[in-house]
Order: sequence, then structure tokens, then C-alpha cells
Amino acid sequence: MTVSIRQLHPHFVGEVEGIDLRQPLATADVDAIDEGMDRYAVLIFHDQNITDEQQLAFTRNFGEIEHAVGNSITASQGRRLGTEMADLSNLAQRDQIFQRDDRRRLFDLANRLWHSDSSFRVVPAKYSLLSARAVPAHGGNTEFADMRAAYDALDDRTRAEVADLVCEHSLMYSRGLLGFTEFTEEERKTFTPVRQRLVRTHPVTGRKSLFLASHAGGIVDWPMSEARSYLRDLSEHATQPEFVHVHQWRLHDLVIWDNRQTMHRVRRFDDVNEVRDMRRTTLIGDGPTAEQTPG
Ligand code: OGA
Ligand code: MN
Repeated sequence: MTVSIRQLHPHFVGEVEGIDLRQPLATADVDAIDEGMDRYAVLIFHDQNITDEQQLAFTRNFGEIEHAVGNSITASQGRRLGTEMADLSNLAQRDQIFQRDDRRRLFDLANRLWHSDSSFRVVPAKYSLLSARAVPAHGGNTEFADMRAAYDALDDRTRAEVADLVCEHSLMYSRGLLGFTEFTEEERKTFTPVRQRLVRTHPVTGRKSLFLASHAGGIVDWPMSEARSYLRDLSEHATQPEFVHVHQWRLHDLVIWDNRQTMHRVRRFDDVNEVRDMRRTTLIGDGPTAEQTPG
């Protein structure tokens, strides 16, 4: 079988056919997917009923797996999945749905804000691969925004203004937007802000994109409220409907997105009554985008 990709949105997003992710991939298939990612930034695969092991094996074709440590408030002994998988479900360790006031649920609600995965790490993520193992009857769509198209659409003044800006990202900033501000000393340490360039250049295509996320809570050398209002304006610009694709999940869909070129968010669903079991593997990016604060 050969891989074919159909573009779903004027700017980005491809739907892939002719591949079975349970099987080892031919080099040509890996190359086709990599090229598809460079071009479309989001790829959608339907009817891929895979196990965690198969998801991990498929993911390893594209780079090194990022361990899901330091991206949540779940203690390692309370994890439902291995550390090579990020748990995007609304389920606790024994598959019971989080109670409404469970702190882990409240923390995870920030996935409803636009973001790029692991922008709060010194080396932010390359691809995320999200597999739908259980989907709710209503809601829970994931939306994607094309940060290359958003960059291209900036006026010349703004493009010059953003060119050399560096932002500070932390999980505490995205949570703070929702009024979740109580962190233990240890969490504060884990979630220490990191620096990321606001404009990134794709290593293969050379296309520039805006590296935005709700995790961004400051701009280096800017007063905080000016930085936050500016980042809010940019995010509003970047997530206009013309740059956004809505993915409505079917059971056993797998979606890959490039965090260097897109933002995403999950939409609301009845998460205290319906199960949504989503499992993510994540690839480490090529390196830091900015120098970090000394010390
Ligand atoms: C993610 C995420 C979106 C979703 O997987 O990184 O933000 O649809 N989740 O659950
Ligand atoms: Mn995410």
C-alpha cells in the first residue's frame, strides 16, 4: 500500500490513507509521513486500533520519545500509563472518571486553552501523536491553528516587532489564566519558567511561525501586563477561524501535529460523566529555541 494525503484545510492538515500503524513501516512510508508533516503540520489517520506498544513503535520512527514527567501534578506512583505516554484522558489510575473537584482534573482543564505541547520545557516538543481509545458522544473536539499562516498574515510592523522577542513559558502561567494558582514548592520548582523565541524557523522548509502558547506569561525585558496584553493580541490574531481546523474525533483516530508550527486546544465535553481516553506520545524537539537565564 502506498501512503496518500488529502489536504483538508486551505492552509494545512492532511488526511492520510493507505497505511496500517500496527505494522512496521517501510522507509518510504516514514518519509512520506515526515514530508507530509513538514507540509501539512497536522496529519489525521482513521481506523487505527492500536495498542500502547504499537503507538510507541510507530512514534519511534520519527525521533526520540519525550518522557511525560514534569508535565502534570500526578505523582509518578499514581500514573495510569507508562512515562513514555502522556495521559490526556479524564481517568484516574484505575480508570475511574475524575471527580469534579479533583485537582488533577482542574489542572488538566488548561488543555482547553490554546497551546503548543512542552513549550514549558527548555527543549520543546516536535510532534505529538494522539490516539483516541474512547471518545465522548458530544464535544471534545480538538482544534488546531496554523502558526505559519498566522505569521505570514502579520503586517510588516508587527513582523519586525516580534522578530527577536523571547517569551517566558510555564505551566503555572496557563493554569493561572484559569485561576489555578496554588502550587507546592516542589511544583513551583518543576514548573520554573523557560525561555522560547517568539518566532521560529522550520529546520526543513525554512518557513517562519509564531511560537505562542497559553504557557507564555511574559516577554523578556517587557513589563508583565504589556507582555500579556501583547501575547493575547497575537493569540487572537493567530487563532482566527481562517487559521483553524476543527477535528471531530472518531474512535481509533490518530492525529499527529507539529508543535513547532501549530497550536491546539481541546473543546469542552461532559467530562465528569463521559469517558474520553486519549493517549499521547511525544517527540523531543531539536534543541532549545533561546538561551536560558544563567543560573
Ligand atoms: C494534547 C492535548 C488535546 C485533546 O494531547 O496535547 O492538548 O484533544 N490534548 O485531548
Ligand atoms: Mn496539548
